[in-house]
Amino acid sequence: MGKGSGYGKVILFGEHFVVHGIPGIVSAIDLTVDAEVKKDVGNGFDVKDERKGASGYAEKKKLQQKESIERILKMFGIDQEKNHLDIWLGGGIAFSGIGSSAASSVAIARAIAEEFDMRLSDKRINEIAYEAEKAYAGTPSGIDNTAATFGGLIWFKKNLSGEKDSIQNLNVSEPVEIVICDTGIVADTKEMVAGVAERKKKYPEKYGKIFKQEEELVVKARKALEGFDLKKVGQLMDMNHKLLQDIEVSCKELDHLVKIARENGAYGAKMTGGGGGGCIVALTPGKKLQEQVAKAIEKEGFKVLRTKVGVKRSI
Ligand code: MEV
Repeated sequence: MGKGSGYGKVILFGEHFVVHGIPGIVSAIDLTVDAEVKKDVGNGFDVKDERKGASGYAEKKKLQQKESIERILKMFGIDQEKNHLDIWLGGGIAFSGIGSSAASSVAIARAIAEEFDMRLSDKRINEIAYEAEKAYAGTPSGIDNTAATFGGLIWFKKNLSGEKDSIQNLNVSEPVEIVICDTGIVADTKEMVAGVAERKKKYPEKYGKIFKQEEELVVKARKALEGFDLKKVGQLMDMNHKLLQDIEVSCKELDHLVKIARENGAYGAKMTGGGGGGCIVALTPGKKLQEQVAKAIEKEGFKVLRTKVGVKRSI
């Protein structure tokens, strides 16, 4: 049996914009999706999905998951007619928007490589997971699979001409507490990404301006993170949320969670991931503030994850 894992992630800056070549900043979190793969005689594959998911998550993503696995098998050159695979998925990524699909693709690719005795580099695993991400995001940037493969805090810029993307480790003085909260709504990333592309085409002037603001913001955010100016990072997260509202990927539930987090002392808060549901991330340095924000949100009946961003790992 082959085994593998992929990290969950939280996008701190730049989701959606990153698909169009604007840089993004992403951090892996300390939760993984784990996969086990066993080959057998026969054909096709069965998936036993025991990930702790938001209700309806696995069901809603089932077709996309099937396509993603077919894409992975194609990348490996495994003939589905001649091999049967039993795939098991587990792990602790509980919400939509924190990279469960990318983490599962990385986990499955690693488990298949082990089961078929192939030694693949992380770079190759990342390429395979990127192909799988197309099933979930349509035209993915590659930021999610990159975080899921390598971990750590990453500056990511897609190369739109198809050449090598720019992927750099960012270092912060020490890991910082965050709170992730789930709206409970499972949104379709593919639809959200397609929606932005459509509106960008329809309103080039408006979107051009917003995209320029986002680009400047992400550059400032990198500087603030590397200088460990967390107040500034928080302010920039708030501003990033506004730009995400402007491109119509937030929703009232996300805006509501952002508001509670800020009212309870978070340095900044924004939606994270594809939007339309899924999660927000709030910057809450120190255990005390993290607990304060988490409790306030839990009191309103939402599910919360307490974790950290900026754990060191090198690519
Ligand atoms: C989803 O986690 C992030 C998006 O920017 C899509 C992508 O970058 O592939 C919405």
